Amino acid sequence: MANNVHPINDHLHPVDRLGRPLRDLRISVMDRCNFRCLYCMPKDAYRDGYRFLESQQRLSFQEIVRVTRLFASLGVRKLRLTGGEPLLRTNLGDLIGDLSSITGIEDIALTTNGVLLQQYAADLYANGLRRVTVSLDSLDQTVFKRMSGGFAALDEVLEGIEAAIAAGLAPVKINTVVIRGVNDHAVLELVERFRGRPVIVRFIEFMDVGNRNGWRPEMVVPSRELIDRVNARWPIRPLSENYRGEVARRWAFADGAGEVGFVPSVSKPFCSGCNRARLSSEGRLYTCLFATEGLDLRAALRAGATDPELLRMIRAPWISRADRYSELRERVRRAEPGHRRIEMYYIGG
Ligand code: GTP
Ligand code: 5AD
Ligand code: SF4
Ligand code: SF4
Repeated sequence: MANNVHPINDHLHPVDRLGRPLRDLRISVMDRCNFRCLYCMPKDAYRDGYRFLESQQRLSFQEIVRVTRLFASLGVRKLRLTGGEPLLRTNLGDLIGDLSSITGIEDIALTTNGVLLQQYAADLYANGLRRVTVSLDSLDQTVFKRMSGGFAALDEVLEGIEAAIAAGLAPVKINTVVIRGVNDHAVLELVERFRGRPVIVRFIEFMDVGNRNGWRPEMVVPSRELIDRVNARWPIRPLSENYRGEVARRWAFADGAGEVGFVPSVSKPFCSGCNRARLSSEGRLYTCLFATEGLDLRAALRAGATDPELLRMIRAPWISRADRYSELRERVRRAEPGHRRIEMYYIGG
């Protein structure tokens, strides 16, 4: 899985204007979600009448596999399937089976809210999935409900995590978005519950992705503050990164009870190592989470583009890429307060 084992001097592998190779492709397979997280799809903005994509507007599995093969030939080694909620996409195991046979792909992971894991974990494993990340923001029923929009029970997510472990998808990673005044008082409970288990909790700084989550700087709890709080209770020491460009800073419990992670996307942006591209469920290619425009690969696919034509299309935005929104956040927000961005549920985490 190490990103640095493949030399990038191969002329086929594009490097962007800031010297970053293309290594990681996030594929959103479904724009819909059965949650309404405060920080992603707040309930008031996504009511029943909200128009999601029609199924024929989403890339088919065949189209996803074709495009992924091309990305792999350009240097992509890691895939992450995201949503919305990816497990709402029928027969997702079949797609994973096909993706895992692509030459060059070394690692496939899935990000899910966990509710459907009980049902699908074994099938996903049988099809070649080895890693799963579950979003879980609190163990307190009331806080969980507030953060997830109240569409599911906390127990279902906890059972989903256990099902993933039982199916062989361990260690399971947990993504906890921390929002000041909402769930920051209860983060240690998550650590306590999963310490010593095959689970790695990662605390993520709340970001201003999309246009609808009401983000304000004072709602961000800096990773440093959380590191200090965890350390005061269970001493931790920093670990080196697993691969170049890893977003979570890893820390080990001094008593050997495993590790915990922190994603300082706002307080310590990691754009300089960003080798991630994102493909939306309708086949648009984005080179940054905070992008406005994406490249329409679906139109080209459905108009009969050849592989060399598609490769040229994919290389072009990567070579001209200079994205580093998180490093420029303050400046961009000041200069363009109405700046429209794609939504996280649409592009994937
Ligand atoms: P591993 O392969 O397990 O290391 O996964 P990961 O840490 O890359 O995956 P994940 O998608 O779970 O990332 C954790 C969180 O970090 C995401 O949910 C986002 O909140 C944030 N994040 C991931 N990638 C980016 C990125 O490119 N830019 C920014 N600003 N935030 C990101
Ligand atoms: N800030 C930080 N992370 C976010 N995610 C979604 N919205 C945000 C946001 N505003 C991430 C969470 C979630 C994953 C699907 O996307 O980590 O677990
Ligand atoms: Fe759904 Fe994930 Fe967004 Fe929550 S964060 S609304 S689970 S896509
Ligand atoms: Fe990459 Fe954009 Fe995130 Fe920076 S803000 S790490 S460039 S996706």
